Amino acid sequence: MSKKVEIHEGDPNTTGHEWDGIMEFDNPMPRWWLWTFYACIFWGVIYSIAYPAWPLISSATSGMLGWSSRGLVAAEIAKVEEANAPINAKLEQLDLAAIPSDPELSGYAVSAGSAVFKTWCAQCHGSGAAGAKGYPNLLDDDWLWGGSMEDIHTTVSYGIRNEDSDDARYSAMPAFGRDELLGEEEVSQVVNYVMSLSGTPQDAGKVEAGSVVFADNCASCHGEDATGDRAQGAPNLRDAIWLYGGDYDTLHETVWNARYGVMPNWNARLSEAQIRAVSAYVHQLGGGE
Ligand code: HEC
Ligand code: HEC
Repeated sequence: MSKKVEIHEGDPNTTGHEWDGIMEFDNPMPRWWLWTFYACIFWGVIYSIAYPAWPLISSATSGMLGWSSRGLVAAEIAKVEEANAPINAKLEQLDLAAIPSDPELSGYAVSAGSAVFKTWCAQCHGSGAAGAKGYPNLLDDDWLWGGSMEDIHTTVSYGIRNEDSDDARYSAMPAFGRDELLGEEEVSQVVNYVMSLSGTPQDAGKVEAGSVVFADNCASCHGEDATGDRAQGAPNLRDAIWLYGGDYDTLHETVWNARYGVMPNWNARLSEAQIRAVSAYVHQLGGGE
């Protein structure tokens, strides 16, 4: 049964829908809402013309004002660089060895160098510079290649055993076992001798023979007394500080297959001032000479 719906004079039109006698007025949107809506569309169009907006394949439309958040950062970096330009220039000119004793300059270099270290060096040497297996600890005074400002600066600028810099520090320990320079027995003897230098050998009976193997094969790089040779980056084998490890198996692996630690050169990636700053930072960590 349906009932006639009453429509009054002045009522808006209905949408024509009816549910059980209930009809829906077709009210227009409120004016304020409509104008806000148009204003938003207008704003959107102006904004997307003025500012970066529409995504492209690898970037976005740049907008007519040329604004970008990258640009803001670049401007800030430029401002900081401008402010630091005089002290960076001084850092680049001063004699390397004199930097640590110049309080103003070394203060600046160490804090700038610490930032460089966290960005470029920490992934290998550790954020606290304590190193890891194969990556030397930079906190101690045990140096492979030397711990003066000049030495550190050279190491950082050109790197070690890399293929990118002709001036990289270079040396290579022979793979005594793999290349059949020594037999298993001799390797075992010399490893026991090396262990005896800093602690207890695994097999004391082999130490004597091992010392002969050492004198004949190892002393030319590691020194007669096994305290190492910085000119060749050959580590001191007496101090119980190990780059790769001092247990029998690790030493056997080192002598059998040799090691070949590689560090990139930084002169292609960092400015001279940055290299000097990070060198000063490493120098003051504890082992600087
Ligand atoms: C990709 C890894 C890697 C990165 C990154 C790296 N290093 Fe090294 N670094 C090494 C290795 C490996 C050695 C040891 C090479 C060897 O066995 O002689 C080394 C050695 C050094 C040494 C010589 C230590 C000594 O005892 O003589 C210094 C100094 C040094 N790094 C400083 C830095 C600084 C500063 C940075 C950042 C600008 C840096 N390294 C970044 C891998 C790295
Ligand atoms: C041509 C020079 C050279 C000769 C010869 C040489 N070494 Fe080395 N040795 C090195 C260098 C350079 C390193 C460092 C490699 C690196 O840092 O990756 C090294 C590293 C080592 C290490 C690792 C030390 C550590 O802290 O982990 C041991 C152990 C060692 N040598 C023992 C020997 C023994 C034993 C012999 C003789 C059988 C020998 N070496 C002969 C150059 C030499």
